Amino acid sequence: MTKTPLLVANWKMHGNKLRVAQFAQQVSPHIPSQIEAVFCPPYPYLHIPPKGPLKLGAQDCATTQEGAYTGEVSASMLRDIGCEYVILGHSERRQHFEEHESMIATKAVAALQVGLVPIICIGESEREREEGLTVKVLERQLSTLLPLADGLVIAYEPIWAIGTGKTPTLNQIEEAHGFIHAQLAKTARDSAPHVLYGGSVKPTNIREILALKAVDGALIGGASLEADAFVTMLRATAEAKGL
Ligand code: PGA
Repeated sequence: MTKTPLLVANWKMHGNKLRVAQFAQQVSPHIPSQIEAVFCPPYPYLHIPPKGPLKLGAQDCATTQEGAYTGEVSASMLRDIGCEYVILGHSERRQHFEEHESMIATKAVAALQVGLVPIICIGESEREREEGLTVKVLERQLSTLLPLADGLVIAYEPIWAIGTGKTPTLNQIEEAHGFIHAQLAKTARDSAPHVLYGGSVKPTNIREILALKAVDGALIGGASLEADAFVTMLRATAEAKGL
């Protein structure tokens, strides 16, 4: 069975009320029925996009569902307002907020408990790639997640490709995705989890990346901020996957 490709717009800490509303309005009519498109604006704007073909995702969630944790937002709250997905373990959260493997796995469990699909980001730094440690790093980052494999989406995001305009070669992407799929297959019982690529995806390179069989979609930062570009990438995805 062919998987439904997944395209995720990660707005990080960008946007405002108007831009979020306009993006949802402009993108929604152009989502091909065979593609799942997910919009992840910052928390305060999650209520703005109307319910429809553009699915809603958050950029993080807490490790527990409620309690005395000032400033935190729980998975159950996100579900309550209509989110279907949550990005977890993004390298920016690992780097700036000291998130580590066990914390990310706990957040994934909290998300799965309430029916949110966790999109978990993994990937090596430039130094780790140069030192030939890519597979080791991916193995370590996946180790706590494998017991949950059935419910997850994994995004392979080499840190050195995020927001830099640099992308790995198609061979490097294929190799990393092949390794991730093989690891997940060890524990996934029901279905083969989606593995997305992320890091400087844009309208000019998405087609060749998505044409790789091992790539089930993309997690897009900067290039998702413009509705036109996102619509172009939705079309390119449909073409790349022969839909
Ligand atoms: P980028 O970000 O597309 O701007 O490189 C991707 C991401 O961080 O998810």
